[in-house]
Amino acid sequence: MGAFAAELELLIRARYPVIAVVTGEEVRALQLVAKTAERRQKRLYEWSCSTGIVPGGTSIQARKPLNPATRDPLVALDAVLELVEPALFVFKDLHPFLSRSNPSVVRRLREISIHLKSGPKSIILISPELDLPTELQKDVAVLHLPLPDTEELAELLDGIIESVGSRTDICIDLDSTGRARLLQAALGLSLNEAENVFAKIIVQDGRLDASDVNAVFAEKSQLVRRSGLLEYYQHPEHFSQVGGLDLLKDWLAKRSTAFTPEAHAFGLPVPRGILLLGVQGCGKSLCAKAVSTMWQLPLLRLDMGRMFAALVGSSEENIRRAINVAESIAPAVLWIDEIDKAFSGSQAGGSTDGGTGARVLGTFLTWLAEKRSPVFVVATANDISHLPPELLRKGRLDEIFFVDLPSFVERTEILRVHLARRSRNPELFDIHALAGESEGFSGAELEEAINSALFDAFHGNSELSNDHILNALRETVPLARTMDEQIRRLRHWADGRARRASIPHCPPLPFSDLPSPDPSA
Ligand SMILES: Nc1ncnc2c1ncn2[C@@H]1O[C@H](COP(=O)(O)OP(=O)(O)O)[C@@H](O)[C@H]1O
Ligand SMILES: [Mg+2]
Repeated sequence: MGAFAAELELLIRARYPVIAVVTGEEVRALQLVAKTAERRQKRLYEWSCSTGIVPGGTSIQARKPLNPATRDPLVALDAVLELVEPALFVFKDLHPFLSRSNPSVVRRLREISIHLKSGPKSIILISPELDLPTELQKDVAVLHLPLPDTEELAELLDGIIESVGSRTDICIDLDSTGRARLLQAALGLSLNEAENVFAKIIVQDGRLDASDVNAVFAEKSQLVRRSGLLEYYQHPEHFSQVGGLDLLKDWLAKRSTAFTPEAHAFGLPVPRGILLLGVQGCGKSLCAKAVSTMWQLPLLRLDMGRMFAALVGSSEENIRRAINVAESIAPAVLWIDEIDKAFSGSQAGGSTDGGTGARVLGTFLTWLAEKRSPVFVVATANDISHLPPELLRKGRLDEIFFVDLPSFVERTEILRVHLARRSRNPELFDIHALAGESEGFSGAELEEAINSALFDAFHGNSELSNDHILNALRETVPLARTMDEQIRRLRHWADGRARRASIPHCPPLPFSDLPSPDPSA
């Protein structure tokens, strides 16, 4: 029996009157409840608003409600009271009725829960989301159904293999290692999805063998992408393409083998994650992508903004799902770009979304705090004003790095990187003059200036020269000039709270009209 089934059974034996199971996998949850009912020798009844109460396990055609009036949740709850035998009553998707707009259903459930405490009956709510009104929170035990583990997937696979066993056109050639890898690859899928994937890889070429592992991975990344929340990021960057940010690079390099068994045996704690906070266009997203290359781990990108979008449905279930998938792929880097955007405005404001944002945040932070799995979170943010303070609290992430505008030395490195990327020899340019001319420029703006200089050169039928770039730099008004106040605020906040991502190499040039970074920080 899995941990979930064991906990469910414990709650039932302890006479918890109302147990809520939050999951998108209704059929699987129902099967688990049915098994528990069998073990505890209780009858099983199912309710939905379309069928009313029917005996458990009845096929959909044969579903004759005990009483059609029980389609009404109030009548159904009364029927629960009337039945005297030991039984489990599964209510499917009762959650829309448990809102403040249905005070009588909420109240009835409370009254019944008091009554059920002394009897052999329990109510089990199964729904993909649950937002209990305060009145009910103490009366309902909430369980989250995790995605299937390898054991459950193995059961499924065996079932499929058995069902095709007699067919001569299908060849199953799977040793125990191949089988283990296949099951491992399917972790992170729901039971239903895994069933489809297994069926598909068998039907495709009429065989099932160890080489199908890749097909399972491919299917999984498809499904993950379709959910719109998490994607395998296929184009990671390399730190050789990042100019400056030496302290951050050192910190990361030191931890590049932290997920190995040797590091674990040595007693190293598993790194949790970092927040890269700072000025726009200075390489935060770039670094997030480069971590996965440096550490040789898959890169998963989590789109927090879409997490809140109404389109995607139940956000709480979504984030749990995304976390589950990330953990099933671990060790991995989980990149959350511009996390501040997700928590800004009305998206997570609580007033407009009925608290969904707060719950998603809560789920995410709890996971961060309790996380044991080797999922390394790299979050980036341009602004602190919207960041929830809980995220910044110690113990959630390993470090907060402040990424400032590049110093003189860093600008020379960034210019070299981007010239080399465009197949130009940096030694042929007066890099120092260019870096001197670009005080206050971000990495993105340096890159942009080189691009624009390339256009000028190409248009003028000449090779790219120092002057082209100098002109482009002079024509640019760096964002830092217009965002002076914001950058000042960011620096002030970061001072003492965040680690510097780079060494403040050089005193700023005399013509600077920008505040210089505080050297004491
Ligand atoms: N330190 C840097 N080294 C090299 N290129 C940089 C650097 N910072 C920014 N860039 C260039 O600017 C682009 C945008 O940077 P990005 O990482 O998206 O900025 P941020 O996430 O901090 O807003 C990068 O893709 C890269 O081409
Ligand atoms: Mg970015």
